[in-house]
Amino acid sequence: MPDFEEGGAREVTLKINGDDFRILVEPRENLREVLHDRLGFTGTKEMCDRGACGSCTVIMDGRPVVSCMMLAVEAGGHDIETVEDIERKQHPLIETYADHNAMQCGYCTPGFVVTAKALLDRNPDPDEEAIKSALEGNICRCGTYPAHIWAIQAAANRLKTREA
Ligand code: FES
Ligand code: FES
Repeated sequence: MPDFEEGGAREVTLKINGDDFRILVEPRENLREVLHDRLGFTGTKEMCDRGACGSCTVIMDGRPVVSCMMLAVEAGGHDIETVEDIERKQHPLIETYADHNAMQCGYCTPGFVVTAKALLDRNPDPDEEAIKSALEGNICRCGTYPAHIWAIQAAANRLKTREA
């Protein structure tokens, strides 16, 4: 982590969806604030701001992380993937979430999709228990949980068909 003079901002380079963003950040700013409020990656949502809901999840170096619990200065130099890139690349999850009605609101859903994408990257054929385990940090107040399992398994099947 860069050294800070008291209260001073520091320049960091955030690698987001394959592009480098050089930006001055305050030592107190978390990654979610910088992504959403300053760089326009508005799919990275804030609900709890304390690491308890998963709505701000991004993929960092292949692992899902809650961006409200990471200081922006700590994220410098790491590969960060947001839901915008998942949509831009038309990952099957985008369609299967719609097909299976796995969402009701725009707050929790991006975090679920990002977590699901990280799961499928490391496990292309997850069973129900693996999906439940991966999603345990993502909270939906509406009870859409069964639909997430169907949507993720449908996306896994589409990826396998694509690769065949
Ligand atoms: S807003 Fe980050 S975990 Fe809830
Ligand atoms: S669909 Fe977002 S909280 Fe339930």
